[in-house]
Amino acid sequence: MQFIDLKAQYAALKAEIDNGISGVLEKGQYIGGSEVAELEEKLAAFAGRKHCITCANGTDALQIAYMIYGVGTGDAVFCSDITFVSSTEASKLLGATSVFCDIDPDTYNISPESLERQIKAVIAEGKLTPRAVVAVDILGNPCDYDAIVPICEKYGLILIEDAAQSFGASYKGKRCCSFGDISTTSFFPAKPLGCYGDGGAIFTDDDGIAALCRSICVHGKGPRGKYDNVRVGLNSRLDTLQAAILLPKLRALGDYEIDRRQAVAARYNAAFEGKLKTPFVADGCVSVYAQYAVLADTTEARDKIAAHLKECGIPSMIYYPTPQHALPVFAGEPHYGETFANADDYCARTLSLPMHPYLEEKEQDRIINAVSEAL
Ligand SMILES: Cc1ncc(COP(=O)(O)O)c(C=O)c1O
Repeated sequence: MQFIDLKAQYAALKAEIDNGISGVLEKGQYIGGSEVAELEEKLAAFAGRKHCITCANGTDALQIAYMIYGVGTGDAVFCSDITFVSSTEASKLLGATSVFCDIDPDTYNISPESLERQIKAVIAEGKLTPRAVVAVDILGNPCDYDAIVPICEKYGLILIEDAAQSFGASYKGKRCCSFGDISTTSFFPAKPLGCYGDGGAIFTDDDGIAALCRSICVHGKGPRGKYDNVRVGLNSRLDTLQAAILLPKLRALGDYEIDRRQAVAARYNAAFEGKLKTPFVADGCVSVYAQYAVLADTTEARDKIAAHLKECGIPSMIYYPTPQHALPVFAGEPHYGETFANADDYCARTLSLPMHPYLEEKEQDRIINAVSEAL
């Protein structure tokens, strides 16, 4: 059994994907071209944003966002303690300080209360300038934007939505990748919308920001083209082949994959109710379940379930074993007395089960039975 069965998805979309790939090979244009333009248009329409600019991966998308807003030395970037290192890796690379915030114990997303505490602590200390909040829609579940947006407005902070895990999810009728000043996503193969290699995208409603993104993605190109380099940029583009692969996958995501993910989650939820803490999705939100994570009562219970699943030939994963504040790379970042109690507890007890739109009911039953046996 696969944790995320990309081969099953390929089998379902084979004709369209193969056709897209051979179309690119026949044309012989591997960078840019009509597939990239078509994909960007469709991604922007899907997310409900004016512009989508594709790039090489989700980490670059975040770096480009930080570069555009001039995030750098002396700046504080606030981020959830539960995320992948990429969320503030690039801001740190640019000289900023990562200030982690504890999570909400139900959604596992950034706690608005902890966020405001950390902002006030940075202001009170007076060493760093509060600059940006990275709202990570963790495991595919949207952040509490009604609480986060007013905090960003109150303190004049840029809001960056890191929707690497949440493309296809929605919050109160608005799709992820449409929140904040700028949003980013990843097309890493295992993501809800993944390509067959690395890929990413940036979303904005601002024409000027969109133009800056396009410049930074191509070595800081100027109005006279790619040899008119007017700023320091990157070489960060989505390959034409990846765009051709993503086009049918985007269609499938919208047509049925989001719904199928809900169906798998609903069956898991029903089976584990009262036995494990199942994912909480707030009213009016749709999670895309990039991961389906349960919390066992204790670390020992979690490890026992994982071991039994392994014996049964069922893969499971821990997203994530270590909160950001405890990673060696962030050892020097200030904590301002925050205890990160919810994040530590989450890491100690979390376990992600196989989840993808092609997971058949009989496979789901095998997983449910194996978890129940371990319990
Ligand atoms: C929350 C989050 N942000 C950013 C990224 C970076 O994406 P990429 O791997 O495409 O660079 C990831 C990828 O795992 C992620 O999970």
